[in-house]
Amino acid sequence: MTRLSVIGTGYLGTTHAACMASLGHEVAAFDVDAERIKALSSGNLPFYEPGLAELLRAGLETGKLKFVTDLSEAMSGSNIHFLCVGTPQADKTGKSDLSQIEQAISSMVHFLKPGDTIVGKSTVPVGTAKTIREFLEINFQSEVKLVWNPEFLREGLAVKDTLHPDRIVLGVKNKEDSKVIEQVYQATIKEGTPVIVTDFATAELVKSAANAFLATKISFINAFSDLCDSVGADITTLADAIGYDSRIGRKFLNAGIGFGGGCLPKDIRSLKSRADELGLSAQFKFLDEVDEINQTRRTKVLQLAIEQLGNISNKQIAILGASFKPNSDDIRDSPALTIATELHKLGAKVKVHDPVAIPAVNRYFPELGTSLTIEEAFEDADLILHLTEWTEYQAIDPIHLRNLVKSPLIIDGRNVLEPASWVSAGWKIIYLGKPSS
Ligand code: UGA
Repeated sequence: MTRLSVIGTGYLGTTHAACMASLGHEVAAFDVDAERIKALSSGNLPFYEPGLAELLRAGLETGKLKFVTDLSEAMSGSNIHFLCVGTPQADKTGKSDLSQIEQAISSMVHFLKPGDTIVGKSTVPVGTAKTIREFLEINFQSEVKLVWNPEFLREGLAVKDTLHPDRIVLGVKNKEDSKVIEQVYQATIKEGTPVIVTDFATAELVKSAANAFLATKISFINAFSDLCDSVGADITTLADAIGYDSRIGRKFLNAGIGFGGGCLPKDIRSLKSRADELGLSAQFKFLDEVDEINQTRRTKVLQLAIEQLGNISNKQIAILGASFKPNSDDIRDSPALTIATELHKLGAKVKVHDPVAIPAVNRYFPELGTSLTIEEAFEDADLILHLTEWTEYQAIDPIHLRNLVKSPLIIDGRNVLEPASWVSAGWKIIYLGKPSS
């Protein structure tokens, strides 16, 4: 087993550190955020991710995993350093803010030793790894190696995606540089996971292309969703039918209020901005459309609410779901919260419910009303908006809740609620891209 350091304990770094410890490696994870390190050291996960808290605590108990604020302590016992810091959107151009990468590398330089390997996992614009490699060469000749190993984990499934990924991509300058990392991932590779060893630029672009393709698939189906609305067709049946074509596939063809979160929106903008820099604006213009179609999904729900209620002011609206997707408490660029905020601005009395994200909503959206139970959210409501498809909401008893609301009207922004039980309980249910019931 190997000793590893992990630099950055955000979503990616914490998951990676705990998963690597679960494979038997000795992991020291570093962050500049002392409060976060304190929480993690006591076994408290600062975000919600199914299965991860158990791995975190197991790693701490066995002593395989530790969290430190001293970079020298993190790096000294190890030759492999995973770079897992954030690369948020810098500005309106969509460019990535690489300051955390720059800061991490310039701090790491003091503690790198000949024979060390830095493994970049952060999502970066193409060309970043080459720049880091050149910087390392100036400081260490070729004695410190760089491998670019993009991460494909999905929030809510982060543990499974880290331990059993669809593929492992390793960008290197020299083919043999990948060997040391293949050793770290030995258990996963033994399961038959494909390993793609390639150059830096290809590795970086695999990540950008994967997220751009997923975002495009969602906006594609959402454009068709509007077309279905115009002609009375059914987007779910359409998605099922085209999804049977194995060249197309059914995944990521769920129409609704579109994509959010800390990755797809920023990654398509970063890719477009990088393509612009490289003189390829025309070829990547479609990403602007993907982004715009996606934003319009949020406006569409507002329009539907106005169509149904007329004047929104003082109307009581229950919002089911605040996180950008189920099984996560991440509210970054959450479509549900954009809609809730706009309704609030129009004078609606909004009550947001979410199984896990309410503390985050109270902290970052104090203007929004919140409810700790589904019943409380439904009380006296003129309209229910189902915006994040937690399984809890699909198990709701519409008969019981019918008696709590002022008006039995629900818009299903994720197209997953079964119409039969709602309609027979006296509700009107409106979908995006398929006929209302
Ligand atoms: C995404 C990618 O799926 C991961 O492979 C990648 O590693 C990650 O970004 C990243 O770059 O770190 P994630 O942001 O966790 O993962 O979420 P997704 O499961 O991709 O969902 C993104 C959004 O798309 C959610 O808001 C979801 O509700 C929406 N979505 C997804 C749809 O609207 N329709 C669908 O059919 C699928």
